Amino acid sequence: MDVQSAIENRKTVFRFSEKDVSEETVVNLIGSAVKAPAAGGIREYEFIAVTDKDTKAQLSKLSSTPNIDSAPFMIVLVCDKSKIDAVFDEEESGVFCVENAALAIENILLTATSYGLGSAWVATLQQESIKKLLNIPGKYAVRGVIAIGYPEKEEAIGKISSPLDMSKIVHIEKFNNNAE
Ligand SMILES: Cc1cc2nc3c(=O)[nH]c(=O)nc-3n(C[C@H](O)[C@H](O)[C@H](O)COP(=O)(O)O)c2cc1C
Repeated sequence: MDVQSAIENRKTVFRFSEKDVSEETVVNLIGSAVKAPAAGGIREYEFIAVTDKDTKAQLSKLSSTPNIDSAPFMIVLVCDKSKIDAVFDEEESGVFCVENAALAIENILLTATSYGLGSAWVATLQQESIKKLLNIPGKYAVRGVIAIGYPEKEEAIGKISSPLDMSKIVHIEKFNNNAE
């Protein structure tokens, strides 16, 4: 599947089938994450691949998203902001840390779609409890729990119509230049 098709077909999936996903696929997804651009070329994130049933259930609970534990695996992305603090000022590094993680996660979501997999990026999390559960050292921040697997219903993957009226959000040359 080409990039355009992956973008068109990606949508959040919360319920997954029992069909397993190969280890090679998980490795490829994480490989796609680290190819995203990163401010200053500093990729300050790390990944935890989780397949354990109980841990997935806990993560589902701690991210207030029931059912995502039906996913055969989850990727938890964590960031060590101190690595980027050394290069940028406090405000920039705070923003870049989030942006770098978002780009890495989007690569995972799009690559997953290209494999016919469904995914859900969940970021409303109980940080400290998740860190405790996964033995994540204090200096790291959890940026997302990404549940991935084959969707329970095939139709869960497919084209979605654009949710926004492009004529209202795209400006020509200057902001609101095209307003009547
Ligand atoms: C930064 C971010 C945080 C999100 N956090 C949650 C979350 O905590 N719980 C959840 O159910 N979905 C979460 N989502 C998924 C969004 O709800 C979902 O992307 C949105 O409803 C649009 O649907 P779509 O992905 O199918 O286009 C998050 C998405 C993003 C980008």
